[in-house]
Amino acid sequence: EDKTVILAIESSCDETSASVCVDGKILSNIIASQAVHEQYGGVVPELASRAHIQNIVPVVDAALKTASATHHSSLTTHEIDAIAFTQAPGLIGSLLVGAQFAKSLSLALNKPLIAVHHMQAHVLANLIAELRPSFPFLCLTVSGGHTQIVLAHSPLQLEIIGETIDDAAGEAFDKSAKMLGLPYPGGPLIDKYAKQGNAKAFKFAEPQIPGLNFSFSGLKTSVLYSLQKEVKNNPAFIEENLYDLCASIQYTIIHILMKKLKKATEQTGIKQVCIAGGVSANSGLRNALKEYGVKYNWQTFIPAFEYCTDNAAMIAITAYYKYLAGDFAELSISPTARAEW
Ligand code: KG4
Ligand code: ZN
Repeated sequence: EDKTVILAIESSCDETSASVCVDGKILSNIIASQAVHEQYGGVVPELASRAHIQNIVPVVDAALKTASATHHSSLTTHEIDAIAFTQAPGLIGSLLVGAQFAKSLSLALNKPLIAVHHMQAHVLANLIAELRPSFPFLCLTVSGGHTQIVLAHSPLQLEIIGETIDDAAGEAFDKSAKMLGLPYPGGPLIDKYAKQGNAKAFKFAEPQIPGLNFSFSGLKTSVLYSLQKEVKNNPAFIEENLYDLCASIQYTIIHILMKKLKKATEQTGIKQVCIAGGVSANSGLRNALKEYGVKYNWQTFIPAFEYCTDNAAMIAITAYYKYLAGDFAELSISPTARAEW
């Protein structure tokens, strides 16, 4: 058979993940999350690297086994046509583990290596489902480290037309959650509590910055000052208003994001609109995208939940397009913490 089998590895932050993709179809997506960071209120890079070392072999093994089960025949490493890995951006110690594993396997199996940019992969997670956007499309990519509006001309021609000038949307969620005394990562908890709160209960600052760029530092300060003022008068303020606070903070973040996304559709005339990245798992944002879609006549797309937060399936789908384009990496390639694209 001349099917293209790709094994992909993602290890940029605190999830170790491996995925097998056959002709652009995802057969497995195994994700090992690292609980070790919870007690520290954030990802501890040194501990993340160590956990990747422990997880990577069993995760890759599980990805191959699950793919075999989905494929109804045993899939051995010899059927792999290329090995893909996240080259950038991310925590350097974490990236090194995945890169070194991929390079070793590439050498051992004598199969080509494909280097993938993590943020491009978040965008292309929208191409995993059967119902997918057509080109050109817009993608709002919102994660723990990035907030971007990307104009996708083709799978490998992605143009950033707007981005944050300070904090990322995920950081806005996580830092606000921290001020509310919630554990890391706070985004999913704000999402959960917001469902029971009133989004109009409190008003927080929204930035007025030109063009398609974002800013979240003003919101952070606004939340901090409001909380300080209220807690001075009532030490139980946060506890008593937790749900309303979460709903109001989430509402403000979503409004900041959607305003710029709408502006991008007006400037480009593109009505195929996607979201991606960890924050696209947020139920409020997912609903907002659908509402705007109905109101402004957009066709909207959201990756399945497991393809929103960090995962190797998005690395695999990106690698598949790179494979078709013959875009392979040298064995001497190194991961980098930051990267242009
Ligand atoms: O894409 P991702 O998994 O990792 C990075 O590449 O950064 O994104 C992680 C971010 C974290 O800030 C986390 O709090 C946020 O995504 N996040 C959420 C939700 N699920 C994850 N934020 C809001 N609501 C959620 N349901
Ligand atoms: Zn990510």
